[in-house]
Amino acid sequence: MRAPALPGLALALALLLLQPPRPARSAAARFDPTWESLDARQLPAWFDQAKFGIFVHWGVFSVPSFGSEWFWWYWQKEKRQKYVNFMKDNYPSGFKYEDFGPLFTATFFNANQWADIFQASGAKYIVLTSKHHEGFTLWGSEYSWNWNAVDEGPKRDIVKELEVAIRNRTDLHFGLYYSLFEWFHPLFLEDESSSFHKRQFPVSKMLPELYELVNKYRPEVLWSDGDGGAPDHYWNSTGFLAWLYNDSPVRDTVVTNDRWGKGSICTHGGYYTCADRYNPGHLLPHKWENCMTIDKFSWGYRRDAGIGDYLTIEELVKQLVETVSCGGNFLMNIGPTLDGIISTIFEERLRQMGTWLKVNGEAIYETQPWRSQNDTITPDVWYTSKPKEKLVYAIFLKWPTSGKLFLGQPKATGGATEVELLGHGQPLKWISWEHNGIVVELPQLTVDQLPCKWGWALALTSVN
Ligand SMILES: *[C@@H]1O[C@H](CO)[C@@H](O)[C@H](O)[C@H]1NC(C)=O
Ligand SMILES: *[C@@H]1O[C@H](CO)[C@@H](O)[C@H](O)[C@H]1NC(C)=O
Ligand SMILES: *[C@@H]1O[C@H](CO)[C@@H](O)[C@H](O)[C@H]1NC(C)=O
Repeated sequence: MRAPALPGLALALALLLLQPPRPARSAAARFDPTWESLDARQLPAWFDQAKFGIFVHWGVFSVPSFGSEWFWWYWQKEKRQKYVNFMKDNYPSGFKYEDFGPLFTATFFNANQWADIFQASGAKYIVLTSKHHEGFTLWGSEYSWNWNAVDEGPKRDIVKELEVAIRNRTDLHFGLYYSLFEWFHPLFLEDESSSFHKRQFPVSKMLPELYELVNKYRPEVLWSDGDGGAPDHYWNSTGFLAWLYNDSPVRDTVVTNDRWGKGSICTHGGYYTCADRYNPGHLLPHKWENCMTIDKFSWGYRRDAGIGDYLTIEELVKQLVETVSCGGNFLMNIGPTLDGIISTIFEERLRQMGTWLKVNGEAIYETQPWRSQNDTITPDVWYTSKPKEKLVYAIFLKWPTSGKLFLGQPKATGGATEVELLGHGQPLKWISWEHNGIVVELPQLTVDQLPCKWGWALALTSVN
């Protein structure tokens, strides 16, 4: 064989040929605008690892802050007595819901303060209502003339301010809720009366707005809601999602939920929400999220809430633990006031969750469901796991009076098995229990010595 005339060039060519193929997004990896294709997309890994997020319901409904964020509907459409009377007693006759708009001041809204509270809560993502069913957008939507936070009320781009604060000051992922339909939008109502054969509203309002929202604020959670009884082809949800997953600026990191048109909930989309405050109590094969309000009766702030209407921190920790054990994420909702304050009770719950997660986060973040979700002997014991580290976590919500915790599920594997109370440090004594599980001797601690309150976690090494 003849030596090559230009060995340098040949070498370069050979090296070029040896290069692995570029990890370009090949045409094959693109998604079609069909549920079959879109549903097969793997959720970006960050979402399952995050486990805990904060939902924020804020809008013009925060001005009356009475009853529910569904105020407009209950008052004008259903004409519920409570709401009709509230208006009669407190506002001049002829006062319209639209008149609440200028009263939505956000006077004390400080996105940096919010971000710092969210960071302290231990949450890994937030979801803000960019637009609820009332149609008022918290950003200066080009498709919402005079019914948005830049033209009216605060005269500020709330979505932008929060996005910057979250991205600049925290390690949380920034997400947005968006209501597809609007209760009283004339084009939606016209489409509705055509049994959704007309598509004026999605074409001129909802779709352009969604593209604008994603391009401008790059949300990593898009929490869709409010199908208004219309099917997904009316909303062109699959067309939009194909763009979101293929070509949008957040195509690699965005997650979405399952509310994309009548019948899509718990069936299509990204992760499942299935219902508000959904907590099935058993493992689900598909990633899901439990969106839960701290105020048992409302998502938006309401001044008529009594102390008993708020979930206690014990109840919230229980929700978190049950949810994560069963493969879900916990999305805990707060409602700020019309002037942008996170009321002290919401702030306290957020900070309490943060102190609990500081001790027990190891048993929550980046865990996987174990083969068993809750214990078969002792109630209120929930399991999570980290298979690579050979760790199983037993989170117990009641400290046993005997000082001994009976665990029916984990089986010791001889000398390798170790048990530790998170935040305590020293290995605990345990014995196998009739080959049926293990009994852990908890340390005798005073209330002040406990690593935390409301629930505790044991890290079990090498159990079956
Ligand atoms: C966000 O952080 C960047 C980089 O630290 C800084 O240049 C920018 O001014 C910050 N923006 C705001 C609005 O604080
Ligand atoms: C749906 O969205 C896709 C992607 O943007 C677009 O190509 C298609 O024309 C839309 N279809 C309808 C009926 O609006
Ligand atoms: C926990 O486990 C038991 C089986 O021991 C089961 O009957 C129960 O339904 C489970 N779930 C809850 C929410 O307690």
